Amino acid sequence: MAAIETTHGALAMDATKVHDHWSSRLGFIIAAVGSAVGLGNIWKFPYMVGQSGGAAFVLVYLGCIALIGLPIIIAEWLIGRRGQKNPVNTMAELAKKNGRGRGWMLVGAGGTLAAFLILSFYSVIGGWALSYLAEAGAGSFSGIGKDAAAALFSGLLASPARLLAWHSVFMLLTVGVVAMGVSGGLERATKLLMPALGVILLGMVGYGMTTGSFGAAVDYLFTPDWSKLDSTVVLAALGHAFFTLSLGMGVMIAYGSYLGQDINLVRAAGTVAVADTTIALCAGLAIFPIVFANGLDPASGPGLVFVTLPLAFGKIAGGLVLGVLFFALLIFAALTSSISLLEPVVELLEERTPMGRVASTVVAGVATWALGVAALLSFNAWSEVLIFGQNIFDLLDKLTSKFLLPACGLGAIVFVAWFLDREGVRQDLGLGRAGFSVWNVLARYVAPAGVIAVFWHSL
Ligand code: PHE
Repeated sequence: MAAIETTHGALAMDATKVHDHWSSRLGFIIAAVGSAVGLGNIWKFPYMVGQSGGAAFVLVYLGCIALIGLPIIIAEWLIGRRGQKNPVNTMAELAKKNGRGRGWMLVGAGGTLAAFLILSFYSVIGGWALSYLAEAGAGSFSGIGKDAAAALFSGLLASPARLLAWHSVFMLLTVGVVAMGVSGGLERATKLLMPALGVILLGMVGYGMTTGSFGAAVDYLFTPDWSKLDSTVVLAALGHAFFTLSLGMGVMIAYGSYLGQDINLVRAAGTVAVADTTIALCAGLAIFPIVFANGLDPASGPGLVFVTLPLAFGKIAGGLVLGVLFFALLIFAALTSSISLLEPVVELLEERTPMGRVASTVVAGVATWALGVAALLSFNAWSEVLIFGQNIFDLLDKLTSKFLLPACGLGAIVFVAWFLDREGVRQDLGLGRAGFSVWNVLARYVAPAGVIAVFWHSL
């Protein structure tokens, strides 16, 4: 018990199981970057830039990351580190200690629910990436035309069996990693996958430079066309800032719960935000040169990666290798995020039921997988099944991104900024007077106002 007390403090006394920890500061940062960098960066960010007028969107997005994303990620880690438990118990205990109502527990519960719901359809998209890796390796893109590329993607969506198979493989990989624990699974996997992702991405940016269209891609990403900026674009940028930093879903609270006092949360948040943004921009610099060099449409939306790129890979020399590398990159990004989405649910089960790590992971994984099956059927057999006018896949996406994430992110930042002891928070953040004043303005007013704006718009 003595050993446990020194690392976990008095909180460990009532926990029957020993709470895992990140093995090092670097391990935590890499795992957090792995969570942040996902399909959102490689798949969604480039197509959103494409649809929203290029650099104007990018600049607004950067502002949202700095002014709203950063304070919230810090708040979530702070909560998690203080609680050293799953998001639900953590919020309940912190609220109690600070003389606040039990209702704050909902921030943890809503976030954990959001993680569960998001993973169910995130894993379906991860399955698409696996399927496309197989297609790329089999040479299916070679010489492919526009219609055939579109048909390849719609063919996948129309096939419950193939979607199911790939979704299952993706969930199996996710469960396999998470079952091995925080330091032995999540941290170890991200330490392997993130460097590989970085190398492939840089290689692809290097390839982009040889296409003759790199300049066009740079212009596209960095020369703003302000006429395209309207409230929809601003709100899309804000919503994406939330999603890409993995906020409002218990993930960062859970990751914070495995932290010790030795890490500077502000600096770590800066590192994660910069890395996440850099990787999203690099994804743009990898994808758009290929798109432009082949005379393709940068604004093709969600199909950018699954239709437009295969078309390009089919045309260019070395397209097979490039295609395999690209979809491997997409899978690595997706996996290091999916494991983080499963973690809050597993942590909750592990701490609140008699089940151990492995059983908790399997139960959480099977439940997520089952919901994912409903999500994947909405592309084919169940496409007519509408709830509130939405198919199941879209409903899961909308319910989380438009409702649960902003609500829980807002709850986290408001709780830390307004309801925790100020001096304690200042010390937790390791900030001096000036720094703390900046924090206060951002955390108390700017970030909540931004989130409320998104909320308002989406309702
Ligand atoms: N941040 C990840 C991405 O950009 C998605 C994600 C969301 C991961 C929530 C974990 C939690 O794709």
